[in-house]
Amino acid sequence: MPKHRFLPSGPLKGHLRVPGDKSISHRSIMFGSLAVGRTRISGLLEGEDVLATAEAMRLLGAKIEKSKDEWLVEGVGVGSLLQPSAPLSMGNSGTSVRLLMGLIASHGITAKFQGDASLSKRPMGRVIEPLTQMGASFEETLRDNLPITINGADPAIPIQYRLPVASAQVKSAVLLAGLNTPGTTTVIEPVLTRDHSERMLRGFGAKIEIDQIGGERAIHIEGQTDLMPQEITVPGDPSSAAFFVVAGQIIEGSDFVIENVGLNPSRTGLFDTIREMGGYIKEIKKREVGGEPVADLHVRHSVLTGIDVDPAIVPSMIDEFPILFVAAAMAEGRTSTTGLSELRIKESDRLAAMAEGLRLAGVEIEERADGLIISGSGGALLSGNLKTHVKTHLDHRIAMSMAIAGLVSNKGIEIDDTAPISTSYPTFVESLNQLTGGNSE
Ligand code: S3P
Repeated sequence: MPKHRFLPSGPLKGHLRVPGDKSISHRSIMFGSLAVGRTRISGLLEGEDVLATAEAMRLLGAKIEKSKDEWLVEGVGVGSLLQPSAPLSMGNSGTSVRLLMGLIASHGITAKFQGDASLSKRPMGRVIEPLTQMGASFEETLRDNLPITINGADPAIPIQYRLPVASAQVKSAVLLAGLNTPGTTTVIEPVLTRDHSERMLRGFGAKIEIDQIGGERAIHIEGQTDLMPQEITVPGDPSSAAFFVVAGQIIEGSDFVIENVGLNPSRTGLFDTIREMGGYIKEIKKREVGGEPVADLHVRHSVLTGIDVDPAIVPSMIDEFPILFVAAAMAEGRTSTTGLSELRIKESDRLAAMAEGLRLAGVEIEERADGLIISGSGGALLSGNLKTHVKTHLDHRIAMSMAIAGLVSNKGIEIDDTAPISTSYPTFVESLNQLTGGNSE
């Protein structure tokens, strides 16, 4: 377990490119694996989570290889996934397991899913329930946690499913099951969650219609349509850019550009919230890449003021609360968040982990069942942790958020384990050194 102390830093300057979007990378590999022919992907995130998806798709019959800067995927065709010869090891990745359960649910194959200690605690009942309605069966019927074995149904039964939780993973699992289900499968979402599955499936030639039912968003997919191979350019991950966007606001003198950041409106809540707190984030060279809005972000140090974060914005920044809490810790006044109970079942309990980590670093925090209330320092450096390290609980976003907090502390912040960072941002420490000129360690 590599421990690391992140030390106070001077201003962040220069240019940075963050790695490819994790959600789009998973989907590029999965949808490419179902198309007939060769999909080419550039800018793929080569993090452990996405590599777990690639390994699983190989076991299900796809040929996936890297050639120079591109990833090439030879798909098997919808309905033609093969029986895997070994369990599917999903590592830390909730997106891999939940989306793949959907894919397998409508194929006549059996697969055992397993994961690391963090993933093995996360709830799977939320996908098991609709996939059971579609005809799939699960050998450990009472289990909510991995390891779990799924028996897909062939043919599966089309359903209309209203999401009980705002979750793009559950939405995607049902839509992916619908890909090989005769007839029309419908998912209704009361609030918009990230829509990469819908956008990309359409690009691959799936028959998808979106309309409103009683004021809610309804996504209909007609099953058993062939997917066509694509050339995909994966934009930079806004969730990875978020760490540096916040670092730039809270470290005096910072002024830099993050290039090629995906700005799908279902992902940009953190940037809107930071602006509402008084932060400076300017979008330059706005363009479209692979059907997704993209821009470079000019980021500058700003004086932030605490706010009450509107719970309606939560789905569009669901992964960014750990780093928002760091921004709040440095803001003037109090920041209050609610509606965050989903954060308790992410890679770790992110409310508890961030409350504990920031308290150790000297921040005043009230932890509630569904949010944190943080009293900001008004720009004064945090005291840091000297006697004991922050526990990251196998959670990459806790590790990176507390690393950024270390940059604005008096004596640095030590975290117990930097290894989880490789799940989504293997080059995080290099990026940090690039912008700080290496003066952060
Ligand atoms: C993701 C959906 C979100 C998010 C996760 C990636 C996706 O999870 O937290 O990091 O790619 O669909 P939920 O569906 O559990 O909200």
